[in-house]
Amino acid sequence: MRTDRTVRDLWYKDAIVYGLDVETFADGDGDGVGDFKGLTERLGYLAGLGVSCLWLMPFYPTPNRDNGYDITDYYDVDPRLGTLGDFVQFSHEAKGYGLRVVVDLVLNHTSDEHPWFQAARKDPKSPYRDWYVWAKKKPPHPEKGVVFPGVQKTIWTWDRAARAYYYHRFYDFQPDLNVTTPAVREEMQRIMGFWLQLGVSGFRVDAAPFLIESYGVPGHEKDDPFVHLKEMHDFLSWREGDAVMLAEANVGTDKLLDYFGDGDRMQLLYNFPVNQQLFLALVRGEAAPLVKALKELPPLPEAGQWATFLRNADEIDLGRLSDEERAEVYAACGPEKSMQLYDRGVRRRLAPMLNGDSRKIALAFSLLFSLPGTPIVYYGDELGMGDDLSLPERNSVRTPMQWSGEVNGGFSTAPRDKLVRPVISGGPYGYENLNVVWAQRDLDSTLNKVERLMRTYKQCPELGWGKWRTVEADSPAVLAHRSDWRNESILVVHNLGQSPCTVTLKDAAEEPTRVVELISDGAYQDILDTAHPILLEGYGYRWFRLAGKGRPD
Ligand code: GLC
Repeated sequence: MRTDRTVRDLWYKDAIVYGLDVETFADGDGDGVGDFKGLTERLGYLAGLGVSCLWLMPFYPTPNRDNGYDITDYYDVDPRLGTLGDFVQFSHEAKGYGLRVVVDLVLNHTSDEHPWFQAARKDPKSPYRDWYVWAKKKPPHPEKGVVFPGVQKTIWTWDRAARAYYYHRFYDFQPDLNVTTPAVREEMQRIMGFWLQLGVSGFRVDAAPFLIESYGVPGHEKDDPFVHLKEMHDFLSWREGDAVMLAEANVGTDKLLDYFGDGDRMQLLYNFPVNQQLFLALVRGEAAPLVKALKELPPLPEAGQWATFLRNADEIDLGRLSDEERAEVYAACGPEKSMQLYDRGVRRRLAPMLNGDSRKIALAFSLLFSLPGTPIVYYGDELGMGDDLSLPERNSVRTPMQWSGEVNGGFSTAPRDKLVRPVISGGPYGYENLNVVWAQRDLDSTLNKVERLMRTYKQCPELGWGKWRTVEADSPAVLAHRSDWRNESILVVHNLGQSPCTVTLKDAAEEPTRVVELISDGAYQDILDTAHPILLEGYGYRWFRLAGKGRPD
């Protein structure tokens, strides 16, 4: 029985997170825009799927020029999506389903239409002036460090009213907040406190490395940026003991640990290094890139955890691959220029990146759930949804959820031209063929495979909690790894190649140990023990528990 305190307190260690944008998930009032009412009505689907935590992308008032990541009020819900009352109703009902909610915390920058920025630019004596980062003279190399190359030209933009340049890591309509100003940090805590009070279990910390940098603020060049993360952590734990922060920090492997500290900063960090190598490995049909990435991960403090993901609402960032490696992934997953973005990534969804090959998609999900960490699923990927490359930049992967074969894919009853974004229609990814209703009826659908993987993951706390290591396999196509926790062990093998193979594991266990198979991509004959050759179909996967006492729960 899992009754001890740590397991329950560190709930995120074996959670299943589902990331969604309220705007494109379900429209409850028929105006063409997803909303909290629609989302609340779909909680049964999410709970039934096996999800345990929702991550909501920004739903705050916004001019919506960067998918809501440009906020004008941190203490409200965008009127298109509902009211604060709707949020509380949603949060209450989510709790009833046993679902936790984590919300996006976008504090690196505001919208330029935010009243703070408007006050700051118009009056140099405004108390809000120091909330942003200004320079009287144009700083050198303002083109260096842009996040959206090809679309964004500079990180310093002249403001006529302020008679100064303001600093913005992202688009010019997203001025950076000045984290060195104490009042800004106080306000950040007030925002966190507000949403905690409304029932959330934590935050996805947007753009963490930029949030804490104090670049351009005179006198603060030598500040230790990580102090801010500790401050946020302490505040969070005083207010809500088990609340967490999931940080977006796409940094080099040598910098990852800085975000965890001694377990006193962020609890979860997206595993960007593994994400990039995972796709390289899938493209090559070889385990080596993934094995290398896994081996390079630093050991985490007890409270720390990796957040494993396949795709998210942005382009897949391949910026840390070598030019040749990136070219390989482009060639296989996004060969046309229109599929690539910002000189570093692919703006396609998971299924089209894997050529719609259902075996390969299932393999990717098996990796997602079994690799060390907490899995995050991006809405619609559990169906194998496609993308719409006619939409600009990253909007290609942000089309409405496909619920049924009814008009607008069941997303909304509004006339088609009123939809927030077109629903994908026609072809193999169109809602007519690909939707929740059909996928639930088809036992072989990606949705049903994902659901079974989730169920199995939930019965394997070793994967979220355990000490893991890769296992040596005598086939270059096979990734094998093992997780141990409290005298229980899970062993997982994946064949990244397209041809069937039989693999023998060299160091799966000290001596041949009997195994029980938990889940696989097909029907295999049982193997006797860890020394036994293991058959795997092309793109096959098999999860085993090493025989011991067996799990009572
Ligand atoms: C994060 C988000 C991205 C957004 C950016 C600026 O990277 O994932 O969508 O554009 O932050 O807030």
